[in-house]
Amino acid sequence: MSYSSEKLSEEKVFKDPVHRYVHVRDRAIWDLIGTKEFQRLRRVRQLGTTYLTFHGAEHSRFNHSLGVYEIVRRIIDDVFDGRPEWNDEDRLLTLCAALLHDLGHGPFSHSFEKVFDLDHEDFTRAIILGNTDVNKVLSKVSPDFPEKVAEIIAKTSEKKLVVSMISSQIDADRMDYLQRDAYFTGVSYGQFDMERILRVMRPREDQVVIKKSGMHAVEDYIMSRYQMYWQVYFHPVSRSAEVLLSKILHRAKQLYKEKYYFKFEPHHFISFFQEQVTLEDYLKLDEAVILYYFQTWQEEIDPILSDLCHRFVNRNLFKYAEFDPAKEYKKLAKLTELFVKVGIDPEYYLVVDSSSDLPYDFYRPGEEEERLPIHLLMKNGELRELSRESEIVDAISGKRRTDHKLYYPADFLADDSDMGDIELRKQIRALLD
Ligand code: NI
Repeated sequence: MSYSSEKLSEEKVFKDPVHRYVHVRDRAIWDLIGTKEFQRLRRVRQLGTTYLTFHGAEHSRFNHSLGVYEIVRRIIDDVFDGRPEWNDEDRLLTLCAALLHDLGHGPFSHSFEKVFDLDHEDFTRAIILGNTDVNKVLSKVSPDFPEKVAEIIAKTSEKKLVVSMISSQIDADRMDYLQRDAYFTGVSYGQFDMERILRVMRPREDQVVIKKSGMHAVEDYIMSRYQMYWQVYFHPVSRSAEVLLSKILHRAKQLYKEKYYFKFEPHHFISFFQEQVTLEDYLKLDEAVILYYFQTWQEEIDPILSDLCHRFVNRNLFKYAEFDPAKEYKKLAKLTELFVKVGIDPEYYLVVDSSSDLPYDFYRPGEEEERLPIHLLMKNGELRELSRESEIVDAISGKRRTDHKLYYPADFLADDSDMGDIELRKQIRALLD
């Protein structure tokens, strides 16, 4: 029997709080889960700094990856199996791409990628194609199989249907993270009837479509995504922690460039500071390692690095004020000037942060964010774009919501602080109120 169709003698199951069980019968999937690169995902949280706002949000990318795999497995085995539009030869390819789609995510990837100018998608590809255990397993299926999996994840594959199952406006990735993140944060917004959506999904040549009768379940899913973005993903307190995190990394990088003498040599970061990151170095970093450095850097001589690390470790986060960059640039300039006067470095302590989301979009060819819309399958076999049928979806379609906030250390500006002149601190506070 070929490796690609080899089954385990007994089905393995993982207990999962969202899907109850994750079922594995394919030898290749079981072997991939056991690789060290996949196991690393246990040490990377799914929601980065969100655990500092919602203390339950400690779940990892490992949990989520298994969840996406399980959703795709159910779509294939319970809904698509036997339908003429579905080519069962794509089964293992789809399952592997689902399982590995987030493989390249690093620790606190959001800030981390920005500070070091990296992209987790490049690392996903590098892990799948490089000299890794994951590559060894995939290559056993066939020599070109790793490349095929990488193309599905990068959305460059010709197999559009498979791509849309893993990344589109209604895909297994989103369906898993919305429910999982809702479960672990404890909020009620992320719920929707996934069972119903799975039942009404149909394969078409270039994408998954949804039977019209399932439209209301899809509306619920779109609304839940909308709510989760603003209530959880863009929560201003999590963003504040994110700001702190990126300022720490930024400061450490800056100090390294200035040949600062670190009391605690940042071995794991050297190639990142030098902007010559190898895959080996990248895989060594996880959130435990990062937090170890933050812990030790609290005792560094540099007052900024030490203070920022103190804040992160002990959750003494920056406060925030509403900010409109279009109208308040003068205020920002004034604040910057006053910060310098009282001896607080505005580069690290006065930060504008913006979040933005587009809940759903119809097709707009040529635009920067070209998104494949969700199509409904009508009784007569015709396809119709979702926002044309659904008033609720139409109301939020194509509307981008953006939010800007200004983050600053309120304790440095308080009456009992010893930063600069008290009158200047009062002036700053008045501007921020
Ligand atoms: Ni994902």
